[in-house]
Amino acid sequence: MFEHKTQPGWVAVEEFLTATVVHPDDALQRAVSSAVEAGMPPIEVSPNAGKFLQLLVQISGARRVLEIGTLAGFSSIWMARGLPDGGHLVTCEYLAKHAGIARANIEAAGLGHKVDIRVGAALDTLAALQSEGQEPFDLVFIDADKEHDADYLDWAVRLGRPGTVVVLDNAVWEGAVLEPSMDEVNAPGIISALELLGQHPELDATVIQTVGSKGWDGFALARVR
Ligand code: SAH
Ligand code: DHB
Ligand code: MG
Repeated sequence: MFEHKTQPGWVAVEEFLTATVVHPDDALQRAVSSAVEAGMPPIEVSPNAGKFLQLLVQISGARRVLEIGTLAGFSSIWMARGLPDGGHLVTCEYLAKHAGIARANIEAAGLGHKVDIRVGAALDTLAALQSEGQEPFDLVFIDADKEHDADYLDWAVRLGRPGTVVVLDNAVWEGAVLEPSMDEVNAPGIISALELLGQHPELDATVIQTVGSKGWDGFALARVR
């Protein structure tokens, strides 16, 4: 896990905003604590980012959401809660252990009927989704292994439609996008993804920087043309 450095003020403000504005409920808090108890890395999105994803699902009117990187289901729960009745979220997770814990958390949140967890390497799952001839996805959230971020963006376009919303987590990575030697595993993948976002003929994109409990980072927001 790459070390993200926080500042006390960023964390205190995030806690204030979470308590004052965001209000994660027990099901969401249990998803976070279950991950800690299971020894999983504490790398879920922050509550304010989760709520942002839920709002994006609602604002875009998405009925079909694709997530790459499930962990314990924290971001899945936020996004599934933004779906209308009959809406669906497919989430891709490599590790069966993570998928099992996520399944329990999603069931406990009362969202089991809306969420399909697909276990395996996401690149295989994405190819399978295409050959199954699934309906296009309306919103795609990319948050797995950063080495494949550019591939995941290509898949988001392929499995989307004009107007599909794409969110890519971890787009700044403590500034390592300017200094890849800080993290030779992940930074090159993130940089490739940003370059692709800036020149992909079918994507309009921007990147928003963030600070908080997860240090200095950001997310890319894109729309399929
Ligand atoms: N979106 C989650 C956090 C995801 S953490 C949240 O905010 O709550 C990244 C997850 O991606 C981990 O669970 C990791 O096991 C998974 N992952 C890593 N490489 C993967 C791959 N190639 N295919 C699918 N999942 C992968
Ligand atoms: C890591 C992964 C993430 O998706 C994230 O948001 C923060 C950290 C990590 O692998 O260190
Ligand atoms: Mg992330």
